Amino acid sequence: MALRTIVLSDDELLKKRSKMVTAFDEKLWQLLDDMAETLEEANGVGLAAPQVGILRRVVIIDIGEGLIELINPEIVSAKGKQREVEGCLSCPGKWGFVERPEKVKVKAFDRFGKPFMVEGTELLAIAMSHEIDHLNGVLFVDIADEMVDPNSVEEEQ
Ligand code: CO
Repeated sequence: MALRTIVLSDDELLKKRSKMVTAFDEKLWQLLDDMAETLEEANGVGLAAPQVGILRRVVIIDIGEGLIELINPEIVSAKGKQREVEGCLSCPGKWGFVERPEKVKVKAFDRFGKPFMVEGTELLAIAMSHEIDHLNGVLFVDIADEMVDPNSVEEEQ
């Protein structure tokens, strides 16, 4: 495993659309393992492959209930609304309110290429929506309806 460098928001790469994963091989597993180490080191909630410079549809999330790996994730249903403060490892020091679905159902593949569904509410719904946005070149700062004074936010994301 190795730490990867996190790409910051001024990099054009983060505005690009990531490609589907087609090979569930050792290269993917290495990427996933490196992303997990990078996320843990950064004390974050989620990380998408473009944030480490790889334009592939790979996301990891850890909201404190174990690591979730999502390959080629797709939101198949979204219900309700919530509006919470978000941050992003690619946008250090920035925080802002984003409206997200209250509940999302996501179809994805595991690291071996096996399909599964994951349903999330509250923070998990936010994290999945935020990370899947990264795969489509969207940053939370582009869709936040109100930025927040960083001194008033203690929690990291
Ligand atoms: Co982010």
